[in-house]
Amino acid sequence: MNFHSCLTRGSAALIFALSAHGAIAAPDWSKVPKRDIVVFSPGVTPLEWVMKKSDHSGRTGLNKGETCVGCHEEKGGLNFDMKRMAGKELEPVGAPKTMSFPVSLQAAYDKDNLYLRLSFKAPKDAAAGADREEKAPKHEVKAAVMLVGAKVPMAMQAGCWATCHNDVRSMPGADPNKKKYVSGASLGGEVYTDYIQWKSGEGGKGSVQLDGHVADTRVNKDGKALVKAEGENKGGQYVVTFTRKLTGGEGDLPLADGAVVPFGIAIHTDQTIHRFHHVSLGYTLGLGANADLKASKQ
Ligand code: HEC
Repeated sequence: MNFHSCLTRGSAALIFALSAHGAIAAPDWSKVPKRDIVVFSPGVTPLEWVMKKSDHSGRTGLNKGETCVGCHEEKGGLNFDMKRMAGKELEPVGAPKTMSFPVSLQAAYDKDNLYLRLSFKAPKDAAAGADREEKAPKHEVKAAVMLVGAKVPMAMQAGCWATCHNDVRSMPGADPNKKKYVSGASLGGEVYTDYIQWKSGEGGKGSVQLDGHVADTRVNKDGKALVKAEGENKGGQYVVTFTRKLTGGEGDLPLADGAVVPFGIAIHTDQTIHRFHHVSLGYTLGLGANADLKASKQ
């Protein structure tokens, strides 16, 4: 076989492979910059706690428009008093041993999709079995990204805290069926948060992806934007990637070139559920625009 025919055959095979995957071209992640964000075990610190001056002196700054990140992120880490966070005052059920850990985030987009990649080492030291799922499957790890609608109260300042209230299930004394919600929610008016989640399954089998939103209540389905969520676990080191269409249906916040969107992430490790996750403060994602996490255009 001469060199020329070999090359032609190779190209034909390549073109076939590309068209079989349609328009989705995942970025070359080795070329996409990383932004580390620290997630932490938030205990019982819902929006009502954050906004009560006797509990949290940061309220005064929040009322003036300051952000959680502005006060709490220092030198790439968080300045929380983790002993206080892990104590009975803020965590009556039981805190994990690893109170915080970094997640490396990468983002890219093209004309159709946003690509997000989260890399982290998942600790396996959650407290009391009380916070474990009763029914199968017991997902070892879940990773979620929440985009916050621009009209959500304190969207730019508080991120996911906009959905976190003291009467939501797993908060002390709360109704076990009440899910998270946004105050004054409206799906038409961008007063909701949109989220996508990857769940690992159990023992490396049965992973699940979710595309939901939080308005008057949390709805963990119906989203049309998530194309796929994939995850891999290499000895406790997780890499989770999301491919999300820029626009979807109801409950999918529309994204576009130049947009800056508030967001937060949540990681459930060691089979935890509900509020027993590690969460980020509220950051911004920019599509080709300056933000905490800048998605580069493909
Ligand atoms: C103006 C600065 C400021 C802002 C803005 C702010 N905080 Fe704080 N925060 C503080 C200070 C100061 C403390 C220390 C305890 C205290 O004085 O209440 C604190 C304490 C905390 C604690 C308890 C752990 C500790 O170190 O005591 C949590 C949790 C917390 N803040 C979360 C948040 C969240 C979430 C937001 C955004 C919704 C936020 N904070 C916004 C200043 C701020």
